[in-house]
Order: sequence, then structure tokens, then C-alpha cells
Amino acid sequence: MSKTIILAVVNGKGDVSKTTTAVNLAAILSKKQEVLLVDSEHQKSATWWTRRDKEGIYFDLTVENNAKLLAQIYQISNYRLVVGTPPALRSEGLRAVILSADHLILSIPPTLMDLTTLIKSVHTMVVPFKTAHLVLLTKIDSRSVKETLEAKNTLLELKITPTCHTFIRQYKAHERAVLEGVLITEW
Ligand SMILES: Nc1ncnc2c1ncn2[C@@H]1O[C@H](COP(=O)(O)OP(=O)(O)OP(=O)(O)O)[C@@H](O)[C@H]1O
Ligand SMILES: [Mg+2]
Repeated sequence: MSKTIILAVVNGKGDVSKTTTAVNLAAILSKKQEVLLVDSEHQKSATWWTRRDKEGIYFDLTVENNAKLLAQIYQISNYRLVVGTPPALRSEGLRAVILSADHLILSIPPTLMDLTTLIKSVHTMVVPFKTAHLVLLTKIDSRSVKETLEAKNTLLELKITPTCHTFIRQYKAHERAVLEGVLITEW
């Protein structure tokens, strides 16, 4: 079996679609490969969200926030992909995940406040560990696509970090899916 790829969705800020991104990635990628979602969030949002949709879930889920175990996450071999939701900011667990991950995804709505926090997060949490990372712009209002492209260009010019070509729009469906306890792929 080829090497397991570890993806972790992180950001120094709350309410920026980390859980939504991690759960949706696990849901979509598990249609083609063996996926484990590791829920390390204090509030266990991913576990709470997916607890009802037994039919539509093709990935395995485990709750783990023990820093020592998270540091060994790269030893997992029976999955093609491991997707992690973030442990608490400034915790040993987060450090362990950033060090063990192959790629970090920094999910972020393109507002000035969010971008400012993102830049800080990249410099304090990501650059020192040299883990490969990508920014994913999320919660994009369809009326603000121009501003989103501007935000993307700003990140490019500042050479903060590479940004995903695609971005995720703000759709009621994402909120409804959580409320109804189903995956976006099933909603
Ligand atoms: N693309 C989207 N469209 C609409 N609503 C979204 C989208 N992405 C996330 N949301 C909503 O925004 C809120 C925050 O999302 P989410 O819980 O994924 O963020 P988070 O960064 O994990 O938050 P926390 O820091 O509290 O863990 C949720 O109510 C979620 O349903
Ligand atoms: Mg969350």
C-alpha cells in the first residue's frame, strides 16, 4: 500500500470553516479511497455533525487530542488519507499535528481581519515547522467574487503562502447539512 497522506486543517482563528473543510474533504475523498478523520477539536464538532448520517459516511472517524498519540499519526498505515480537525491553539497537540502532517490547509474567509490573523498564524504556527501548506478561501459571498480575487492576489504578492486555485462559496446548504446531521455530499 502507498504511503498514508496526512492533511490537517488549521488556522489561528475561530469560525473560519475548519471543521466544515475537514469533514467535506473526508466525505468527498472517501468516495475513492480509505479515509480516517481525526477529530481533535475540544468541542468535537465533526463527531457531533456526523453522528446521525450512518448511511452516507464512508470514512472512519476517531476522536483524539492526546499530543503524544497525535505526534505518531504518520505511523498510521491502513488508510490512504488522514484528515485532521485542529486541536486547541497553542497546544502541544496542535504542534504535534503541524509537525506530523504532510500538508496543512489554512481555511479562511477573505476579510481583512481574517487575512491579518492568517498572516500571523502562518508566521508563528507554520513557517517555523516548514510543513507544506495551502490557503483555501472559504465562505465566499457570491456578490464579493471581485474582492475574493483581490484577496487572493494580495496573498500572492505578499508571498504569504500558496492559495488554492478554487474557492468555496457561502451556501446555506453548508449550514443546513450540519443542522440536519448529514454530509454535504448527501444533502
Ligand atoms: N461555505 C460555507 N457556507 C456557509 N456556511 C459555512 C460555510 N463554511 C462554514 N460555514 C458555517 O460557518 C460556521 C463555522 O464553520 P466551522 O464550524 O466549520 O468553522 P471552525 O473554524 O471549525 O469553527 P471553530 O473555530 O468554532 O471550531 C458554521 O456554522 C458552518 O456551518
Ligand atoms: Mg471547528
